[in-house]
Amino acid sequence: MFVMFRRLRRCQCVQLMTTCLVLSLIMMCWEQIDNTVVSHVKSVSFRYLINRFSLVNKSLTIPREQARIFSNFPYLLDHPEKCKDQDVLLLLFVKTSPENIQRREAIRSTWGNQSYIQDSLGVTVKVLFVLGAPVVSDGDTFGPQEQLEFEDKLYSDLIQQDFSDSFHNLTLKLLMQFHWMHHRCAHARFLMTADDDVFVHMPNLVQYLRDTHSKGLTDLWIGRVHRGSPPVRSRSSKYYVPYNMYQWLSYPDYTAGAGYVVSSDVANKIYHATLTLNASLYIDDVFMGICANAVGVSPQEHVFFSGEGKAPTTPVFTTR
Ligand SMILES: *[C@@H]1O[C@H](CO)[C@@H](O)[C@H](O)[C@H]1NC(C)=O
Ligand SMILES: *[C@@H]1O[C@H](CO)[C@@H](O)[C@H](O)[C@H]1NC(C)=O
Ligand SMILES: *[C@@H]1O[C@H](CO)[C@@H](O)[C@H](O)[C@H]1NC(C)=O
Ligand SMILES: *[C@@H]1O[C@H](CO)[C@@H](O)[C@H](O)[C@H]1NC(C)=O
Repeated sequence: MFVMFRRLRRCQCVQLMTTCLVLSLIMMCWEQIDNTVVSHVKSVSFRYLINRFSLVNKSLTIPREQARIFSNFPYLLDHPEKCKDQDVLLLLFVKTSPENIQRREAIRSTWGNQSYIQDSLGVTVKVLFVLGAPVVSDGDTFGPQEQLEFEDKLYSDLIQQDFSDSFHNLTLKLLMQFHWMHHRCAHARFLMTADDDVFVHMPNLVQYLRDTHSKGLTDLWIGRVHRGSPPVRSRSSKYYVPYNMYQWLSYPDYTAGAGYVVSSDVANKIYHATLTLNASLYIDDVFMGICANAVGVSPQEHVFFSGEGKAPTTPVFTTR
């Protein structure tokens, strides 16, 4: 009897100790899992509870004259006639920065060669590089802006507005694309935006867009969809967003900024959304999601968009 009792106690003791060990391990790791796991859980519940994000829309709506400051930067380089009298299937904006001249050269001589696309695929695709103003250091005589002007004389494919080209001004670059299309190329059937380090498989993309267009599909917004992502609240992150900039637990759905396509009706709706939204949120693809949400457009996942380090296993439109 006595022995039995002792044994039981020892057993319980081991159990108790194991429980304590596990608990303390959880507590030790809590700090780390807290930020990611908890914010994702919160974000997903928020997304399901308040699915239409009308509060987000309301909180970011501002008067038109105040919204205008985000888009009325003067153009330093522009090509107003680029699309004139042409049946443009795709207006393809490549987000680039002044110093990325080699990436632009690579795109022009590979997938972005417009005359090659025209000859081999029989469609008009306009590839334009969008950028802001270089941050100049003093003492430059033939500075980066002059280099851009020289490059633009050769290729006539740079669209530049007078805001500093920086990571935190990416949303201004987004607005510039939709405004440029609205004013200069509204008849293009599709708009695509891509980073300057992606590869676009033109034949696949063009074929898909032709099919889509011939079926008369509208409301198209395709890419790699991020659903219910929470804002990053850790100050050390590149994507840190403070509460006063975005107070909600989750972002509306959006497509990864590396590359996505919208049909022209969606582009037009996004343009109109930008006229009354506060664009200080500097993560451009998230802001695109906010605009789309305001006008009732949702993104669709498309398997042809790969990238972000994963090797494509299917035919692709874009990849890094
Ligand atoms: C684009 O392709 C054409 C042939 O269609 C070629 O003549 C031209 O050199 C190419 N442009 C660039 C920048 O590689
Ligand atoms: C964005 O561009 C504006 C206009 O050039 C500039 O005043 C501002 O400092 C830039 N913002 C950032 C975060 O670089
Ligand atoms: C836009 O939002 C920022 C915070 O991200 C805020 O400081 C600014 O006052 C807002 N602008 C307007 C016009 O409400
Ligand atoms: C977003 O706000 C604008 C302006 O207040 C309004 O016209 C629009 O209908 C709203 N969209 C949604 C989806 O609530």
